[in-house]
Amino acid sequence: MTESLTTPVIDIAGLTKRYSEHTTALNAVDLRVSQGEIVVLLGLSGSGKSTLLRHINGLETPSEGSVGVLGQPVSRLSGAKLRGLRSRVGFIFQQFELVGPLTVLENVLSGALGALRGPRLGLFTYPAALKRKALGHLERVGLLDRAYQRADTLSGGQQQRVAIARALMQDPEVLLADEPVASLDPESSMQVMALIREIAATDGLTVVCSLHQVDLAISWADRIVGLRHGELVLDTPAEGLTRAEVMEIYGRVATSTEELEAVDRELRTELQQREQAQAESESRDPSATPAQDQPSARGEFVS
Ligand SMILES: Nc1ncnc2c1ncn2[C@@H]1O[C@H](COP(=O)(O)OP(=O)(O)OP(=O)(O)O)[C@@H](O)[C@H]1O
Ligand SMILES: [Mg+2]
Repeated sequence: MTESLTTPVIDIAGLTKRYSEHTTALNAVDLRVSQGEIVVLLGLSGSGKSTLLRHINGLETPSEGSVGVLGQPVSRLSGAKLRGLRSRVGFIFQQFELVGPLTVLENVLSGALGALRGPRLGLFTYPAALKRKALGHLERVGLLDRAYQRADTLSGGQQQRVAIARALMQDPEVLLADEPVASLDPESSMQVMALIREIAATDGLTVVCSLHQVDLAISWADRIVGLRHGELVLDTPAEGLTRAEVMEIYGRVATSTEELEAVDRELRTELQQREQAQAESESRDPSATPAQDQPSARGEFVS
């Protein structure tokens, strides 16, 4: 094999992050991710998922250890070199972070700002080629017909798809997603995860995505990495994992009875939400089948 095939896209070794004497957000984390892999980070609130993602694009500096991304030592880069690396790493967030009063198209175009000089005020200030590119990405996420609508008039799922189109404007090689579906209903969550997976496969993107929803993690990840109190306690292929094994996984991720109870509550809430959504969709369309039973739910985006 050539070196490019064997070199991991993300290479984290002995990463420790201490915010204070009492807060160790990450503790000696080792993680290597290969090109094209889709890794889901699972862990309870406060386990260090966001902190880990923020180290991967250099938003945080390690207390100890190293973070390599695309062959570059992120933890030692600064200035133009760090900006250069960040431009190759897309980031999407739970709250989408769109500029509400601007149009969908302007929000997508803002993803290209790193490559442009100076601020932009209004659509006419962007080069035509970039506008065409942005419209192409909107088509890809199924929202071309919304290009000139105000971003804050879209549904949550649509806004997250706009955020994905915006991230694609950078032509990223790595996509980081911090709880991208945490504020979405189950159906929109499935659509957004399907879209991320489809784009990753087509573009050969490497994805690291934190999720709370265990079922989604099993359905969409190639590999599941579990964090507990900042330590990496689980690293396993997602394929073949059954629902019955989920509690056991979380059981290993959780350490105390309170944590296990929190997980149990989370799973119950998810189940209730899904049943409610299913009941609602059946009342709209009695022939509807559960989303997870539809073949399209795993493999392709449904607009
Ligand atoms: N800037 C900061 N200053 C101090 N402590 C921090 C900071 N950022 C994170 N922490 C602490 O580090 C730990 C890990 O936080 P992190 O946000 O990474 O968890 P998380 O797994 O993303 O949680 P959640 O699921 O709630 O988003 C927590 O104890 C948190 O309070
Ligand atoms: Mg977080």
